[in-house]
Amino acid sequence: MQFFLDTANLDEIREALNWGVITGVTTNPTLYAKTGGNLAHFDDHMRTICELCEGMPVSVESTATTAQDMIADGRRLAHIAPNVVIKLPVSPEGLTATHALAAEGIPVNMTLIFTVPQALLALRAGARYISPFVGRFDDIAEDGVEQLTSICAAVQNYDFGHKVEIIGASIRTPQHITQAALMGCDIATVPFSTLKKAVQHPLTDRGLASFMEDWKKVEQA
Ligand code: E4P
Repeated sequence: MQFFLDTANLDEIREALNWGVITGVTTNPTLYAKTGGNLAHFDDHMRTICELCEGMPVSVESTATTAQDMIADGRRLAHIAPNVVIKLPVSPEGLTATHALAAEGIPVNMTLIFTVPQALLALRAGARYISPFVGRFDDIAEDGVEQLTSICAAVQNYDFGHKVEIIGASIRTPQHITQAALMGCDIATVPFSTLKKAVQHPLTDRGLASFMEDWKKVEQA
């Protein structure tokens, strides 16, 4: 399973790139708002992310509401950098725009996917990636992992005529990462806070502390 970083924060992206573990970045309007960025700097900010992540897919979300505006937005955003992937919500307008952009060779990541039918429709429309959300199901006391498992199983049954990958999104915990990996999800897009938790384990900390203590004995011998 690949890891994408789910953030628009440049420092987090730089640090995760230094770890050598991420192969892409996903952003959304909420994540950009968290950086304190404004509308005027949006394209430049996304360009900077694309430059930092050269050769890796960077999902940039359109906030247009009509298919026509999504297509126009998608064409404009695709010019920011060669590694931009246009992120569009699953909806009739989003499907129409995905179909048009895919026909032009512009890759689309369909987001806000919660069900198997939404996933299949997005891929039929031409989406290169789909992003089923896990954590937001858990937020309403439903099982997000179960939904992601169903989507992965259903998608594996078919050939969509183009390369498709499932991005497990709204990943909130290391346990979500484990479950996505066990079901064979292609990619997990993970916030940096969760990625940092995923590196840690109390037995790793305890083991390292005892190795350091024992090494002092060696140095003092
Ligand atoms: C990524 O594509 C999604 O926008 C993101 O994972 C949503 O995560 P959240 O539900 O924690 O906001």
